[in-house]
Amino acid sequence: MTKTIQHAVIIGGSSGIGLATARKLLGPGMKVTITGRNEEKLKSAWKNLGGAAEKAAFDASKPDEVRQFFESLGPIDHLVLAASGGKGLGPFSTLDLSDIGSGVDEKVRPQLSCLQAALPTLNKAGSVTFVSAVSAQLATPGVAGIAAINGMLLTVVPILAVELKPLRVNVVAPGVIDTPWWDFLAEEQRQTIFADYAGKTPVGRVGRAEDVADAIAFLVSNGFMTGQVLTCDGGLRFAA
Ligand SMILES: NC(=O)c1ccc[n+]([C@@H]2O[C@H](COP(=O)([O-])OP(=O)(O)OC[C@H]3O[C@@H](n4cnc5c(N)ncnc54)[C@H](OP(=O)(O)O)[C@@H]3O)[C@@H](O)[C@H]2O)c1
Repeated sequence: MTKTIQHAVIIGGSSGIGLATARKLLGPGMKVTITGRNEEKLKSAWKNLGGAAEKAAFDASKPDEVRQFFESLGPIDHLVLAASGGKGLGPFSTLDLSDIGSGVDEKVRPQLSCLQAALPTLNKAGSVTFVSAVSAQLATPGVAGIAAINGMLLTVVPILAVELKPLRVNVVAPGVIDTPWWDFLAEEQRQTIFADYAGKTPVGRVGRAEDVADAIAFLVSNGFMTGQVLTCDGGLRFAA
């Protein structure tokens, strides 16, 4: 008997959470395609996966590139939307409000645009997993902007789960995760911030990309999960 092989596409799969998810999902029953903008980074991620994945470089914030990618890809079963965005952090009194619009353009629109373009070829028995952030669930000073951006994804997921049924649509909300997302900080500053968050987090550490990949893999594989926000933050939400 021939075994069915499924196909998962990870937008933003060349680094951090997306790459860890590719490593987790890739196997005899699952083909994986990873994407990102930077070809070198994508190639190095592909090598990290043992050359077993497919890869495609394009910018998910450019609708034409997104459309072209999905039109040439063929049928897929699972879509993981891990493309990044980093705008919107900082005290509200001095927040540049145009950062909220830029954050939407860098993260929310690319994730929604990929889902829209994937719909014609996405298996209705499959799944979609967005990546938001726990900042949208925290009452912590300094995250109003980034929470406004990420909160949009938390809001649309239950609606899409009903509108696109039986396709399953979920979202993970990661806490502070040690990935290249934090590379905008100098190493010393990054270590100070991580130590501070580790102290506040009930499990006593910041997260690893693999922690979130495990949460995503659960949402991908569990056929009874849809419309859900899965917070993966070591308990930070209740303690920050
Ligand atoms: N790390 C954290 O603490 C944390 C916490 C909460 C939520 N998150 C969210 O988790 C998701 C993954 O972040 P991460 O921590 O894994 O960051 P990361 O290591 O920087 O990975 C981001 C990935 O997205 C790709 N990407 C960014 N913009 C893209 C675009 N326009 N088109 C295509 N690919 C794009 C990047 O590749 P290229 O740069 O080559 O395009 C890379 O593969 C993000 O949505 C982030 O906001 C992260």
